[in-house]
Amino acid sequence: MGRWDRRSAVEGAARRISRPRRADTLASVKRGACVLLVLAACTGDDAPDVDPIEARVEALLAELTLEEKIALKGGAALVPMDGIYDAGGVERLGVAPYRMVDGPRGVRSGNATAFPVGMARGATWDVELERRVGEAIGREAHAKGANVILAPVVNVLRHPGWGRAQETYGEDPAHLAAMGMAFVEGAQAHVLASVKHFALNSIENSRFEVDVQVDERALREVYLPAFRRVVQESKVASVMSAYNQVNGAYCSENAHLLTDILKDEWGFDGWVESDWVLGTRSTVEAANAGLDIEMPLATFFGDELSKAVRSGYVKARTIDESARRILRKHVEFGLDAPAPRDASVVESAAHRALAREVADKSIVLLANDGVLPLADGVRVAVLGEFADLANLGDHGSSAVSPSSVVTPFDGLSARVDATRTSSVAGFDVAIVVVGLDADDEGEFIPPNGGDRLSLGLADPDVALIRAVAAQVPTVVVLEGGSAITMDPWIDEVSAVVMAWYPGMEGGDAIAAVLTGEVNPSGRLPSVFPRAASDLVPFDPSADEVTYGLFHGQRQMDRDGIAPLFPLGFGLSYTTFEYANLVVSGREVTFDLTNTGDVAGIETPQLYVSFEGSAVERPVRALADFARVELAPGETRSVRMQIEDHDVAYWDDGWVVESIAYGVHVGRSAGAIELSGSL
Ligand code: GLC
Repeated sequence: MGRWDRRSAVEGAARRISRPRRADTLASVKRGACVLLVLAACTGDDAPDVDPIEARVEALLAELTLEEKIALKGGAALVPMDGIYDAGGVERLGVAPYRMVDGPRGVRSGNATAFPVGMARGATWDVELERRVGEAIGREAHAKGANVILAPVVNVLRHPGWGRAQETYGEDPAHLAAMGMAFVEGAQAHVLASVKHFALNSIENSRFEVDVQVDERALREVYLPAFRRVVQESKVASVMSAYNQVNGAYCSENAHLLTDILKDEWGFDGWVESDWVLGTRSTVEAANAGLDIEMPLATFFGDELSKAVRSGYVKARTIDESARRILRKHVEFGLDAPAPRDASVVESAAHRALAREVADKSIVLLANDGVLPLADGVRVAVLGEFADLANLGDHGSSAVSPSSVVTPFDGLSARVDATRTSSVAGFDVAIVVVGLDADDEGEFIPPNGGDRLSLGLADPDVALIRAVAAQVPTVVVLEGGSAITMDPWIDEVSAVVMAWYPGMEGGDAIAAVLTGEVNPSGRLPSVFPRAASDLVPFDPSADEVTYGLFHGQRQMDRDGIAPLFPLGFGLSYTTFEYANLVVSGREVTFDLTNTGDVAGIETPQLYVSFEGSAVERPVRALADFARVELAPGETRSVRMQIEDHDVAYWDDGWVVESIAYGVHVGRSAGAIELSGSL
């Protein structure tokens, strides 16, 4: 038994490792300290240790009129020219406004580097790489004059039909948290990040109205972990509340989410902004529930809010607390004296190379009968609607306009004897590039985007694949934002690759993977089912839905349904061997060897099982993962860690049981290589 078990055994069968604590005691202590400082200044005593940021905040606050405090709480324009939304600011005191710009794929203002979408980065499972993406996007946002990036999205991909699946990182809470934290830590080197959409925003068509019913356990264990860790560990400066309702209250006026959990229990000291326009539904309820800034324009938080304060429906101290949060991040991030703007970073060679690196590492090889990597000298027929199109993702708020895009045909014709054709007679191999685009899925701006009711390819694409595969070995390259079902054709083709929306350099990455210049290392950030009916129900027209503990891989494990490809799946041009598992306390180590003849990157995943648990649990839950690059024949010892939050369940506080947790190291959720127990 490791140290951890002995301690928990000593504390009896179950123990609570953390109880919600009221962080506003912390805030009031800070306030008290500031008051002490002012008093000490008057009496000449030695000033106690005082947080200079809080002192500056209090000094600014003391200068503001009620109207100026209220003016901090609203955006300034519905549709700004340069895509940058202003909010707040106090010109008289030199408090610059917040200048906010989208989004998770890159900066939506003028031309900017178009990175692969969030799901593609999720498929890299590469936390260090995502930190660099966050840093690059933050740098470009700053260069454009913004000081807030409206990203990352860490909403759970509950069902692949979700229109905005492309913006998030995947379906698993632990994986989402790791990727979202990395983005925030990178971006906040240059600007404030605003993690979104808090919370349970996983349906697009009904997003403005749908009421998501969820019990506290599913809320805490599945839908909030990524937000919690981004707030508590990465110290995100801002949180954007979601459009939808949760348990009958719109997120922007949901006191349980915004105040009880986010501000009081988690100790969030930044500011909550609404989603745009319909993201705010009231004046009094929203102000009292913990909404700090109404975006993009102050309507409920305009004169109505002044009246509400004057008539006592909103307390002056509520306005002060909100103004403190808004001023605090302004001071913390030094917005009074921003670093100089350097336009040369936008679409710089370094950022394009980064976009290419992400695309290289995000592409998932799903099936291969040996046709890949393409043999030298093969004559390649290139077909499909996306072969020579820029297909970067939806045209909603996460859209980005790069100055150039490398298409798959561009990439292929630079490397092999490739012909854009509609007939494959006389060719050695056919490559068919199909999938989804902004018409099929995305932010719902009718008639474009929205949720997918069917997860398959369009009929003409299926017909094309089958016609071509009947004549020559065929490689299908899929583009899209989440799972695509393949049963009608997958057994007839030689290889399948998932390229996501691969960004401005994606065509080179696709070609590099197909030719073996790059050894594919992407792993699925969500399960790919054989059929939509294998998954939880998904009704984008429903007014009310219930979310529970199970969806995706966990739901399929529970129901004993075999996916087409499990969470974490992806093939390589080399092979890897797992050996020598050692479990010591919470630490898990094992040896990983590249047993093939080309270098490659493996993503071992650590799953935990809960035999003997007092409550219903997933069959296995992801607890940790690593990216390991190995030369041919190289062996590396890999170390992973299990934390309390990986095994605890929620019962009015976190509970860690003293049971023999199973430890399972695998290539994917469906391919466990080594097992042991804590
Ligand atoms: C949109 C999106 C949000 C985006 C905001 C600003 O409606 O829901 O993600 O950041 O408005 O464009």
